[in-house]
Amino acid sequence: MATATTRSRTVVFAPTIRDLLARDEKVFRIDPAKVGVSDSRLMAEIVAARPVLSTERSVYKPAAGAEIPHDSATRTIRALGQDAVAGSRKPPPPARGMAGAWPYAGTSYLRRWLFSGDPLPVSLLSKRGVTRSDTLSRLVDRAATRWPGSADQDGRTALAGLIRDADDPLDRRQAVAMYRRATATLCDGVAALTGNALWLMGPERDRPEQRADLTAILWETLRLLPPAWMLYRNGGAAYTALHPEIRPEDDVALFPLLMHRHPDYWSDPLEFRPERWDGVTDPEKAPAFMPFGFDGARCWAKHLIVPLAERLLTVALDSRLTVRGPQQEAQVPLRSLLSVRFEAQVGA
Ligand code: HEM
Repeated sequence: MATATTRSRTVVFAPTIRDLLARDEKVFRIDPAKVGVSDSRLMAEIVAARPVLSTERSVYKPAAGAEIPHDSATRTIRALGQDAVAGSRKPPPPARGMAGAWPYAGTSYLRRWLFSGDPLPVSLLSKRGVTRSDTLSRLVDRAATRWPGSADQDGRTALAGLIRDADDPLDRRQAVAMYRRATATLCDGVAALTGNALWLMGPERDRPEQRADLTAILWETLRLLPPAWMLYRNGGAAYTALHPEIRPEDDVALFPLLMHRHPDYWSDPLEFRPERWDGVTDPEKAPAFMPFGFDGARCWAKHLIVPLAERLLTVALDSRLTVRGPQQEAQVPLRSLLSVRFEAQVGA
């Protein structure tokens, strides 16, 4: 499963991912305290067996020392949806901003496109130079909590509005954390997906038939190189009855990446074939395909991701974004988001 035969390019996975892709079994021991699963039915059963713990969440894990209340979580997603739609209707920033090291160039470009209208210091919350440093992040968090901007500022996003309109100090500190996490998850995830698609499309990307169905290209990318390639559950107590390999003290790692490449579930699984999605009205109902998780913990933002990636991919293709040099092979490092690393140039 390790060597993906794309149209003309290959990816080299980090050794740990390569080892996982080499496993034939769909339930296997990774180490003395961890079981891996790529069986479609068992994965769905595990996710349904118990709700995600608040500490296992990424966007909605506790912030400012307290759980995120459900109504504030739904407000955040609604605001993010409004901002993603309104932002992507604005003209995109100059295309030269997409040149450089992907997926980071894509992340910075999206942040500029969607969130740069926010007043200082709030707009700094989503800046890559800041999010990479814990110290800077803490300073900017404090500044944004203190000076969240005023109501009459133009171009402010709905997410920034949630910071300004917070009722009390805890609410405001949580709104700051939500802004940072929601913008980061959106921009990092969409940039990873778009970069993976650009890589998989290969140099033939300008052929008219490639341009015809970018949605199918993105669904096929979500199959072959899903940004959310592993889902994790701490402790096996709720799962022991589901499979004899899982013991109460085990953690459980679920692998959409392995499931999406298994020959039991897919024909020519390693081939990048967007055509396989022709006529599929609801890709998420395809068996053994779960790029946005399973019932019980399904992604709240899934409706935003593919349209936004399609918009970014369109701008990249219109600007003739190409991979720099004669690169036929690129690395996929071991990170929580699966993304191909390559250097891109504009208008070549
Ligand atoms: C390319 C981008 C994204 C991908 C591929 C993705 C994928 C996923 C996957 C696979 C899950 C299931 C996790 C599990 O069962 O452990 C999930 C859950 C979730 N995602 Fe996303 N996601 C993306 C972006 C976002 C964004 C931008 C947000 C919101 C800011 C978001 C919010 C959530 C939430 C709230 C859950 C539910 C987890 C829970 O129950 O707390 N996701 N996502």
